[in-house]
Amino acid sequence: MQFSAVGAPAMPAGHLFYGGDYNPEQWPREVWDEDVRLMREAGVNLVTVGIFAWAHLEPTEGRFEFGWLREVLDLLGEAGIGVDLATPTAAPPPWLTTRYPDVLPVDERGSRYSHGSRQHFCICNPAYRSLARRIVERVAAELGSHQALRMWHAHNEYACHVPYCYCDHHARAFRSWLERRYGSVQALNDAWGSAFWSQRYSDFAEVMPPRMTPTFANPSQLLDYKRFTSEAFLEEFLEEKQVLKAARPDIPLTTNFMGFLKALDYFAWARELDVVSTDNYPDPADPRSAALSAMHYDLIRSLNKNVPWIVMEQTTSRVNWREHNVPKSPGQMRALSYQALARGASGVLFFQWRASRSGAEKFHSALVSHSGQASPVWAEVTQLGRELAGPEPWATAKVRADAAVVFSWANWWAVESSSSPAHDLKMQDQLAWMYLPLYRRSVTLDFASPAEPLQPYQALLVPSLYLVTEDEAANIRSYVEQGGTAVISFWSGIVDSRDRVYLGPYGGPLRPLIGCDILDVAPLAPADVVEVEWEDGTKTSATFWLDIAAEPQGQQGKVLARVTSGPWAGTPVVTASQYGKGSVYYIGSRLDHDGLQRVYDLVPALRPGPTDFGSRLTDGVERVVRRSPDHDYEFVINHTDNDRKVLLATPGYDVLGERPADGTLPLGRRGVAVVRHG
Ligand code: GAL
Repeated sequence: MQFSAVGAPAMPAGHLFYGGDYNPEQWPREVWDEDVRLMREAGVNLVTVGIFAWAHLEPTEGRFEFGWLREVLDLLGEAGIGVDLATPTAAPPPWLTTRYPDVLPVDERGSRYSHGSRQHFCICNPAYRSLARRIVERVAAELGSHQALRMWHAHNEYACHVPYCYCDHHARAFRSWLERRYGSVQALNDAWGSAFWSQRYSDFAEVMPPRMTPTFANPSQLLDYKRFTSEAFLEEFLEEKQVLKAARPDIPLTTNFMGFLKALDYFAWARELDVVSTDNYPDPADPRSAALSAMHYDLIRSLNKNVPWIVMEQTTSRVNWREHNVPKSPGQMRALSYQALARGASGVLFFQWRASRSGAEKFHSALVSHSGQASPVWAEVTQLGRELAGPEPWATAKVRADAAVVFSWANWWAVESSSSPAHDLKMQDQLAWMYLPLYRRSVTLDFASPAEPLQPYQALLVPSLYLVTEDEAANIRSYVEQGGTAVISFWSGIVDSRDRVYLGPYGGPLRPLIGCDILDVAPLAPADVVEVEWEDGTKTSATFWLDIAAEPQGQQGKVLARVTSGPWAGTPVVTASQYGKGSVYYIGSRLDHDGLQRVYDLVPALRPGPTDFGSRLTDGVERVVRRSPDHDYEFVINHTDNDRKVLLATPGYDVLGERPADGTLPLGRRGVAVVRHG
């Protein structure tokens, strides 16, 4: 059975979830019957209900109306459609903010947000917290035993629109958190380096959330504010979880993540989930969107490696919230859905079931469009629903990655700090720089927190791990010492957990791994391209940043490449070194594609490996393997609007086409094949 981490099976073995957000409160009663009929036609088996229904469930304070939602669940249950029942806490009703106006969050300038959209609450506000708890308790009590219930869904996209509040409630909660963390104001002063700019505190009561300041705020304060906020949201989530699980402990619980959302430390959050779920809206107008979407899914799969994950939201075609909303091209929705499944998802759902008639998202695509079944989208979603009606032989197979990208939220928060020598050093750019060439090589990567066991991996990529704690660094060192390989980029090992610089040549507790001494750093001018020359005379280039590295001494590394142009000509830029039984490649600049490939070529786990089956792909085709004890399933996905071919070196069986696959496998525009091997 799937999702066996919790008692009741959410779905029979091998079956996948398919469906979307269902908001029946936006429609007259007679539409509901049609909805259920069409859901069956589309192969929908799970819908998220109640997500923004607070005002309909509690129309005035303390008066509850659950009859309508029970009727919806009855209709769905009778039709065999499962319910992912959401708590409505992401959108407090107007009575609430009218009666308790200080629930509304405050921005860093002190302006209060108004009612009129959603996510308009301060997570630390006591009135919000008690009213949120009460509606969650009512949801659990009224519907927790309904037979249609398959999953609990807390809130919606925590910290999405208003990640940071600066109100007095938030300030008080921040101060208490700091007192718990540091114990004394002296320890706080020490941690925050408050001797700088006369910021020394004499009492916790003087500490403010980082409201608007004349110039750069204290970076350690900013970092703690981010830690505190992620934990404050988590605390509210855990309260919801406790209520929901008390009512029905046997069904899995999730909350929908947003991939690379900076505000929340999803590694910490994912430990609390039975199913990790995510919302993914790649921009069809961005040529890198398939690759970035793959990276999103690899992150999500990696957040809690012991539980299943699903796509909770994607769009059937357009979103409405970009400046210019390009639709998915025909077949793209299916291709991107298979991308998630290829990368391990146990289901794909959409926002939303029926396109709204009014409201901010009325021009966001849905399964049922304004033009109804006549819309080409309907043909696509019903086709995919039929295809995924299962059971799928590959649905329980696992994605196994031999290499991982080391990533932490604390580092992300700190590395983008305004005290950085390069404010344009963005974590996601660093990730993409190291990840995308491997995506193109069909090397599947996990993500790993620097604190988790790293031994399962043969290689680690470490992009700009600026903030690293002593413990995390010891974990990485012991991984290498025992035989692992690490590829570490510039601007790693610079500060401790408080954003205080490790003195000495840069690298701090990672220094033993770095093959040379980094004496200073040089962010390069935007137009600067430096020449990089390799031992064999090959020339590549690098941009953006250059470590000013000393010549390796004694047991330090071997120089594989140097900068040969500009003021720092002669500086080592790529070194290789041994540490214990393992090896390290240090990269002191943003190497171009060819330069980076030369490093990756030296690492066996970063080369297409034995499970590659020797398939030759053409441009724009993605390949991922899901493995079960008996078979390997090779997913090949054409992300282009042109025909592509895959040359199969190892014959297999084309699962979707239901025929043997040998030699050339044609993939039409946005085509997908799943080839079974073994
Ligand atoms: C998500 C959100 C949905 C809907 C969707 C539109 O972020 O959870 O409620 O707004 O975006 O793309």
